[in-house]
Amino acid sequence: MGWGVRRPLGLGRLLRLCLLVLLLLLGSGRARALRNVTADLFGPEAWGALAAFGDFNSDKQTDLFVIRERNDLIIFLADQKAPYFKPKVKLSMKNQSAVITSVVPGDYDGDSQMDVLLTYLPKNHVNSELLVVIFWGRNQTLHPNHKTVLNRTFLDEPLIMDFNGDLIPDVFGVTNESSQPQILLGGNLSWHPALHTQSKMRIPHSHAFIDLNKDFTADLFLTTLSSSGDFQFEIWENKDGNFSTASYITQKPKDMVVVGQSAFADFDGDGQTDHLLPACADVNCHSSAIYLAKPELNQWIPVLQDFNNKGSHWGFVPIESESTPTKLQIPITLHIGDYNMDGYPDALAVLKNTTGSNQQAFLLENVPCNIASCERARRMFKVYWELSDLNQIKDAVVATFFDIYEDGILDIIVLSKGYRNNEFAIHTLKNNFEADAYFVKVIVLSGLCSNDCPRKITPFGVNQPGPYIMYTTVDANGYLKNGSAGQLSQSAHLALQLPYNVLGLGRSANFLDHLFVGIPRPLGEKTIRKQEWTAIIPNSQLIVIPYPHNVPRRKQMIERNARKPIGFILMLCDLP
Ligand SMILES: *[C@@H]1O[C@H](CO)[C@@H](O)[C@H](O)[C@H]1NC(C)=O
Ligand SMILES: *[C@@H]1O[C@H](CO)[C@@H](O)[C@H](O)[C@H]1NC(C)=O
Ligand SMILES: *[C@@H]1O[C@H](CO)[C@@H](O)[C@H](O)[C@H]1NC(C)=O
Ligand SMILES: *[C@@H]1O[C@H](CO)[C@@H](O)[C@H](O)[C@H]1NC(C)=O
Ligand SMILES: *[C@@H]1O[C@H](CO)[C@@H](O)[C@H](O)[C@H]1NC(C)=O
Ligand SMILES: *[C@@H]1O[C@H](CO)[C@@H](O)[C@H](O)[C@H]1NC(C)=O
Ligand SMILES: *[C@@H]1O[C@H](CO)[C@@H](O)[C@H](O)[C@H]1NC(C)=O
Ligand SMILES: *[C@@H]1O[C@H](CO)[C@@H](O)[C@H](O)[C@H]1NC(C)=O
Ligand SMILES: *[C@@H]1O[C@H](CO)[C@@H](O)[C@H](O)[C@H]1NC(C)=O
Repeated sequence: MGWGVRRPLGLGRLLRLCLLVLLLLLGSGRARALRNVTADLFGPEAWGALAAFGDFNSDKQTDLFVIRERNDLIIFLADQKAPYFKPKVKLSMKNQSAVITSVVPGDYDGDSQMDVLLTYLPKNHVNSELLVVIFWGRNQTLHPNHKTVLNRTFLDEPLIMDFNGDLIPDVFGVTNESSQPQILLGGNLSWHPALHTQSKMRIPHSHAFIDLNKDFTADLFLTTLSSSGDFQFEIWENKDGNFSTASYITQKPKDMVVVGQSAFADFDGDGQTDHLLPACADVNCHSSAIYLAKPELNQWIPVLQDFNNKGSHWGFVPIESESTPTKLQIPITLHIGDYNMDGYPDALAVLKNTTGSNQQAFLLENVPCNIASCERARRMFKVYWELSDLNQIKDAVVATFFDIYEDGILDIIVLSKGYRNNEFAIHTLKNNFEADAYFVKVIVLSGLCSNDCPRKITPFGVNQPGPYIMYTTVDANGYLKNGSAGQLSQSAHLALQLPYNVLGLGRSANFLDHLFVGIPRPLGEKTIRKQEWTAIIPNSQLIVIPYPHNVPRRKQMIERNARKPIGFILMLCDLP
């Protein structure tokens, strides 16, 4: 793993390089399978609760944030030599006897160095309110005394978003001071009331910061309770940088008793975000389903209802009702990623045998709808019941996607019970699906100080919530095909989102006709902050750095990956 030298290229050389890229990748069709690469990646260190992803040391490789023994945070830095992830940075909350419940890396003071926000239950907690501490990243490390403990407690894990559009992440949630949601602005860390709302937030929430109305500006999606206590969903559209009122409120699907975490994906490849909701019709989840809501249709469409395989019946795993707050709670979650790069996002879910005790992770493949009930969604999920190496992992609790080798192919990480002392074992499975399918990998950075950073810091890493990415292309059959995704739209309850997006392009080696990237904007700003590029080569990694708009500048570069021949384009651009 590692990157070659960076050098600017003219268009002629760029095109020649692309040709090389296409030729090299076309000849590599291989069988679909997953391979256990855990020992290569972690050696003997494959244990703990994987809690977040982020490039902590700005080396352009994603590092892993792991909680161990409930009060240690270990950052596994990506390395060139096996084991490819090494536990290098350690932060202990043992002295405070605190129980860490979540980890969200991000640049909370805008100095272009990644900081780490932790939520935790303090020693002798009397209720389940969470304290929040931010450890300030400096010189690519964390110091136990260089931190800020927020002076309010949160009723649930906060949502990390960019409320005021200044490209510095902010902390959103209900605190002990008021029933109205509050926002802690990154930068000067000042508290402000956030929304005028009477609604109570659902706990655990699955709020999201993502564009839901096709204007490339992230909206606020909230999971709340109606006045009668029913689960509902609110969309607060971003209007000129303001979240002024809930534009849409929808109720949960009728007859569903248990509702899992909302997930967002462009399920049918039309360029617009759809809402996916796992749910159960009974408290034990013997009858499970996944529903889809399209923004323009006020209707829940089932996209997976059949959980039977060879006489075994499966269902989601509801949160243990008697579980104590000190145990890591894992709500029903779909983790989204385009596993086979066909342009339609797939998912990973953990299911349990409803008659037995086994619990496994399954890949849900996004396929064309072939039954009447999903017709309006055009697509549906099909469960891969027998996917070897995934089905060998017993007692799985979490399964998510991760591009282990930074080659644009999404691999799989699974956490399972059964490591010693109630710890989780970490399993990593390499995705060997390398048919002639194409992708683009896009990461949007903050752009703060990219020209003039203190202490010669590379402004890389710093997980940025809220950017929205959309492409249009022509598929292998000559039809127009779109695709879209939001970057880091959710942060709480092991959302485990990646700091980048891999968008599959199917088997079409065509250029992307258009690629659009939008970012959040400040209050009162009327123009959408959006940039368009045309004729992007497939199999490239795009790094988009919104350049401070008072210093207009545009630049294109290409880097070659030492391991894999993928194009690598760095774009500094001024989003208006
Ligand atoms: C994967 O490999 C690791 C390390 O060799 C091993 O401990 C683990 O049991 C393997 N997992 C599966 C599912 O085979
Ligand atoms: C924890 O406490 C011990 C002794 O009480 C002290 O030596 C150590 O520095 C403390 N560690 C941290 C991270 O504060
Ligand atoms: C960061 O590292 C540099 C070089 O290693 C050193 O000169 C500097 O003093 C360090 N800064 C801090 C705040 O530790
Ligand atoms: C919390 O800290 C802020 C400064 O960060 C301060 O202005 C505010 O008064 C404090 N609030 C409480 C309740 O102590
Ligand atoms: C909220 O929590 C903070 C931190 O624990 C505490 O200092 C403050 O007094 C609390 N405020 C209220 C109104 O309970
Ligand atoms: C903090 O910054 C925000 C936006 O940058 C500003 O609106 C607010 O007044 C500042 N608050 C303080 C206490 O400086
Ligand atoms: C933003 O919305 C709130 C709530 O509707 C309103 O009070 C405020 O005036 C708006 N601000 C701007 C700048 O439009
Ligand atoms: C793709 O997006 C374009 C522009 O938003 C739209 O006109 C077109 O209908 C979309 N195509 C598909 C297949 O959804
Ligand atoms: C599910 O549990 C039942 C009852 O224990 C068992 O007969 C069946 O083999 C299990 N199915 C699988 C796939 O583990």
